Amino acid sequence: MINSPRGTRDLLPPDTALWNFVEAAVRDVFRAYNFHEIRTPIFESTELFARGVGEETDIVSKEMFTWSDGERFNEKRLIDEWLRVNLSDDPHHVQAGRVNVQGNPSILAKLKEVGVQLVWRGIQVRPNLLSGRFEFVAFGSRISSDAITALKKARSIAKSEYSHEFGNHAILLRLVVPDESAKTSPWVATEDVEIEGFAGNYFSSSQSLTLRPENTAGIVRAYIEHKLWERGLNKFFSIGPMFRRERPQKGRYRQFYQIDAEVIGPAASGSQSPARDAEILELLATLLDRVGITGWTLELNSVGCPADRTKFNQALRKALAPVVEKMCLDCQRRYVTNPLRIFDCKVPEDQPIIKTLPTISQFLDEDCRTHFEAVKNILNAVQIPYVENPRLVRGLDYYQKTAFEFTHGALGAQNAILGGGRYDGLSEALGGPAAPGIGFAIGEDRLVLSLAATAESVIRKPDVYIAPLGAGMNREAARVARELRRHDLVVDLGDESFRLKKSFEAAVKMGARYILIVGGNEVAADAFALKHLASGEQVTVPRADLAQRILRK
Ligand code: HAM
Repeated sequence: MINSPRGTRDLLPPDTALWNFVEAAVRDVFRAYNFHEIRTPIFESTELFARGVGEETDIVSKEMFTWSDGERFNEKRLIDEWLRVNLSDDPHHVQAGRVNVQGNPSILAKLKEVGVQLVWRGIQVRPNLLSGRFEFVAFGSRISSDAITALKKARSIAKSEYSHEFGNHAILLRLVVPDESAKTSPWVATEDVEIEGFAGNYFSSSQSLTLRPENTAGIVRAYIEHKLWERGLNKFFSIGPMFRRERPQKGRYRQFYQIDAEVIGPAASGSQSPARDAEILELLATLLDRVGITGWTLELNSVGCPADRTKFNQALRKALAPVVEKMCLDCQRRYVTNPLRIFDCKVPEDQPIIKTLPTISQFLDEDCRTHFEAVKNILNAVQIPYVENPRLVRGLDYYQKTAFEFTHGALGAQNAILGGGRYDGLSEALGGPAAPGIGFAIGEDRLVLSLAATAESVIRKPDVYIAPLGAGMNREAARVARELRRHDLVVDLGDESFRLKKSFEAAVKMGARYILIVGGNEVAADAFALKHLASGEQVTVPRADLAQRILRK
């Protein structure tokens, strides 16, 4: 038997109804706050996360699913090299063995479309009297039927559409592939295509790809790549799977789902304002309320700006110097590379030391302090409760200023239902323009786990189960079902081969409200037996009144 891989799980009905309920509610809230959906790829280049999230974080250093996508063929380099060796500089003095790219531009363009270059190979006898031959050349990473088909197609285009240009000249076909590929190809050259293995390395080094462990870096990448600021877009949300190679336990999976939101834009758009931080936090309170989560705690901190971080790291090193050797190996490494990350340590023996360390709040500069006060001010005004947690630094390197987490008691060890913060330098770190931003990601698995609602309360059961009774009745049942579904009723169907008892059992099992009998007599009378399953009450209802009758609860 093949099971789902460790740390992944199937989301099954009826639970999927709960997931859909959550996502629908969340989409409503995002609409009210003018957020727009963005969908980015589930894998990105590894470098994006290394630069965005930070090399020294647990996520990047230990938890990413990374692979190399193999070698990539550099077609342009092969074409350039081949032409450099073969091309004659002088279009009028073509020497034996050398070639010119010739022909009228429209032929060249048309052939290029099918992946073929037209060259002319020959000897000049007298000016304007050229003898020689035409050659169509295709380039590929290996000998393939596609390339050979393209060549033949090019020749038939030339013969039929451009016969006045090519006259009776022979057209030879040539496929140029890297030498190595020619040697290893199982293909035998076809009779009229000459295969040329061309020496050189035309494969660029492989690219490292990673399943996204989070989506802030991906969204900021898309923001930069598509210049989204030019379209006046600055509030985005996305819902989808993330991947981290963590030790699985309740609420912690290797494939999990995040509901992610980001506000990002040029400073002139107000993206730097503490009002955005407060808006995001107020949105979250609304959102959790809307899906029915109570009893959450908002933990809030400011992690300062890079200058504060430098001072803080110095202070941490100083405080750690006498004790660091007693700490775990990860912390000893972090001590050297990025002492702030020592706060991510989960090793129980290290916790007493970590408790004594200075906190970032002592190192905030005036700007960061004012920003933090302004955020708290608005939160007080809109009555969003929070607790300050000076040790909250979050496990990703891009944060500046505001950082937060919402926790929920029902979750046990993995009690962070969501996390987020401000990341003002991230766009620049990824090669983009200055674009301050703030966002969050909700762990959707954990959100669903902490919901008081059950799937049963949000699932929509069938309004009616139609039981076709006897041969030929599937057809009639299909007609009735189609009419009822037009009225937005949830309808399921049995089969004409079922005995009535079997249909009743099926209707009860799926929790249908009514069962509707479609038999020969009913069809003849154009009125159907409709039975309310809970009360047992049965009535005969004319076809035209069926939908209204079922819609009545
Ligand atoms: P994060 O704190 O790494 O932040 O993840 C956000 C949430 O995702 C966590 O609070 C948790 O609920 C959920 N989560 C994380 N790992 C797992 C897992 N292995 N299994 C189940 N749930 C998990 C970020 O990802 C940032 N990108 C958030 C952000 C957006 N910051 C600014 N914008």
